[in-house]
Amino acid sequence: MKKTLLTIVTGLFFAGIFTVSSGFQTKTTQKEVNPPEGLITIPDNVNTILQNKCFDCHNSKSESMKAKMKLKIDHLATLKKKKIISKLDNIAEAVEEKDMPPKKFLKKYPEQALTDEEAKTLIDWANNTADELMK
Ligand code: HEC
Repeated sequence: MKKTLLTIVTGLFFAGIFTVSSGFQTKTTQKEVNPPEGLITIPDNVNTILQNKCFDCHNSKSESMKAKMKLKIDHLATLKKKKIISKLDNIAEAVEEKDMPPKKFLKKYPEQALTDEEAKTLIDWANNTADELMK
């Protein structure tokens, strides 16, 4: 009897850990940035860069009010066409001018800078997607 109880408790414990850890993993999945009703679908390679280098500040639950007001990556696809185009233009410009990620932040976390290749991928994606939407 004792053993059965122990098995159940241990089982529940591991089920709990599993739920929590898979919860963390799904925090930043493709689904969140690509809602089914969205006008655009952010491709995997772009999503990876956005998740790694931009998402922490630019998501709808971000603690940075300023960053959130300018761009919420997880809401981008759900905006109206005109809005998406203007956000994409802002992204291309911010990356091109090396304004993002913010310089102050990069002083502390230099490894969070975009590589030249990542910057190019983001700029090309933003420009091409904006062009597509304008057709
Ligand atoms: C450390 C937090 C942080 C990170 C990381 C970050 N941003 Fe920002 N971002 C901000 C803040 C804060 C603002 C608002 C700046 C302001 O209002 O002066 C902003 C503003 C912007 C804007 C609006 C610029 C405009 O036209 O006014 C864009 C677009 C943007 N970020 C894109 C990005 C992209 C793309 C990345 C990743 C490559 C990124 N950000 C990474 C904090 C961040």
